[in-house]
Amino acid sequence: MGQSCGLHHSVGDQPKNRIRRMKLSLILASVLLPLAASARADEFAPGPEHDQVAKACTACHVAAQVTAQHKSAEEWCETVNRMISNGAKVRDEDVKEIVAYLAKNYGPFE
Ligand code: HEC
Repeated sequence: MGQSCGLHHSVGDQPKNRIRRMKLSLILASVLLPLAASARADEFAPGPEHDQVAKACTACHVAAQVTAQHKSAEEWCETVNRMISNGAKVRDEDVKEIVAYLAKNYGPFE
């Protein structure tokens, strides 16, 4: 677990991830129920990774949960790894491409 996404350090196996997993069942109940009711069509930017991201990242929350964000590649790397520990179906070898796609389309404000 924990892809480096081509960055200089890995964010995968920090102890806080284990704590997050324990908190997750509590968070799931409060986050997923309202979001499920408002699930909308996919709004992801076009690109080769579109279909996979749209599929993998709307299983638990709406696309806007992702597309409203502005993160650096490093932050997206951390987020995607956290989503994988949340249960997102992303193959290890796809993490890098997904992070690059997210950082390109939903990067930090210049
Ligand atoms: C198995 C369910 C699940 C899947 C699949 C999932 N997420 Fe999440 N996501 C969550 C939960 C639960 C939260 C709220 C708690 C948290 O932030 O970990 C969340 C919150 C977020 C947030 C807001 C918090 C932040 O760190 O900015 C972003 C952005 C996000 N997800 C992106 C993604 C992306 C990108 C994908 C696809 C790779 C994805 N999610 C797939 C469960 C999921």
